[in-house]
Amino acid sequence: MNPPASRRTARGTTRRDVLRGGTTAILASAVAPYARTAPLQAGGDEMLRVGLIGCGGRGRGAAWNALMADPNTKLVALGDMFADHLADAHKYLSQNEQVGARVEVDEDHRFVGWDAYRGVIDSCDVVLMASTPAFRPLHVEACVEAGKHMFVEKPVATDGPGLRRIMAAGERAKEKGLSLVSGLCYRYQFAKQETVQRIHDGAIGDIVSMQTTYNAGPLWLRARQPDWTEMEYQIRNWIYYYHLSGDHIAEQHIHSLDKVAWAKGGYPVKATASGGRIQRTGPEYGNVYDHFNTVYEWEDGVRAFSSCRQWNNAAQDVSDFVLGTRGSASLQGHRIRSGKAWSWRYESEEPDDMYQNEHDALFASIRDGEPINNSDYMCKSTLMALMGRLSAYTGRTITAEEALNSMEDLSVKERAFGDVATAPVAVPGIHQFS
Ligand SMILES: NC(=O)c1ccc[n+]([C@@H]2O[C@H](COP(=O)([O-])OP(=O)(O)OC[C@H]3O[C@@H](n4cnc5c(N)ncnc54)[C@H](O)[C@@H]3O)[C@@H](O)[C@H]2O)c1
Repeated sequence: MNPPASRRTARGTTRRDVLRGGTTAILASAVAPYARTAPLQAGGDEMLRVGLIGCGGRGRGAAWNALMADPNTKLVALGDMFADHLADAHKYLSQNEQVGARVEVDEDHRFVGWDAYRGVIDSCDVVLMASTPAFRPLHVEACVEAGKHMFVEKPVATDGPGLRRIMAAGERAKEKGLSLVSGLCYRYQFAKQETVQRIHDGAIGDIVSMQTTYNAGPLWLRARQPDWTEMEYQIRNWIYYYHLSGDHIAEQHIHSLDKVAWAKGGYPVKATASGGRIQRTGPEYGNVYDHFNTVYEWEDGVRAFSSCRQWNNAAQDVSDFVLGTRGSASLQGHRIRSGKAWSWRYESEEPDDMYQNEHDALFASIRDGEPINNSDYMCKSTLMALMGRLSAYTGRTITAEEALNSMEDLSVKERAFGDVATAPVAVPGIHQFS
């Protein structure tokens, strides 16, 4: 089967043209453009200064993607909580064959500690945010305040109050004409855009139900060092503390939740979940669960059955299936089934690295003066993850409204490397919703 007409038009154009609007119809649900109210001129071919907050694995990758996206960019500032993380990232990027020549981060622009984000934001035009999620509201607010374009990794908050702050900042970014591209990268994968577009065009009829799975293996653990305080241990091992990461339903499974909400064209109104920790029971694993099973329900009665786990020596699977009245779709497989047989499969020779695509789109939008703002879905997909976690922790069904208006403030109160308590692992029926 041939690609849809809108996509065919884009085939003859460059990758940047595609991202700039050659596939407007396809991108419509992924990248919602809006009218600029306060144009911010950073276009043409002038040099764009890029800064990175959070110099871990993803941050380095994002910085590389940013430099690869546009030849007139240079990396001018790095910020991290820890000097060793920053030094590793600087070494990695400055020695990289493809982008190293455009890494110009002098000693004065290597910012370390709780306020590192301020130095980065003040030094550049485009800010990449890839630190521990709990700090994202603070960083995004400061970035919007300073009027800088941004790339924002997922999830964007770990609690209701943080999410409300990000939502407000996203609106202000729109008013200021700033580009805000989300790290929910599947939205920028051409293969998924085309698959979802077909679902929206009616290829499988009306959606009846969905199933999504992120069954993965265990992640890294940074061994406790004698000179680390408890706060340092927790921030270095942030994935195991739900106030810092949101738990893995938010930190990792959010991709799956985002995909099914995208396919459905909207967000669920309630969630009922269960979960716990079976393998990761030691104190070194903080207070997160290692598995969740959640049923999400939409206003029209459609349900998504969602499961995620991080288990060693167990079957792994990342997949999403959308079942409709006339067929079904595999989002991860980029395939559509009509009746009993697969009737369409995405095929293309075109490069389709979603991590690169999102940065290509960000820089093209800045050059063209046509800001992208992904705030809506980046916040709502985070909310969907919070609903699941809150439901699993409390044992209650949690509505979207309840999760969004939750008063549970998980933000780090004492910004210092001292002793800090660890909240107990949540026990359903005992853990209170607030
Ligand atoms: N889109 C994706 O596919 C994808 C993949 C991996 C990670 N991520 C996201 O990227 C983010 C980072 O993940 P990672 O795997 O790189 O983790 P990481 O631990 O390797 O990196 C996080 C870095 O942030 C630093 N940091 C923590 N608090 C900070 C603060 N207040 N200010 C500045 N720096 C701070 C840490 O020291 C660390 O170097 C997370 O939100 C994660 O969910 C997204």
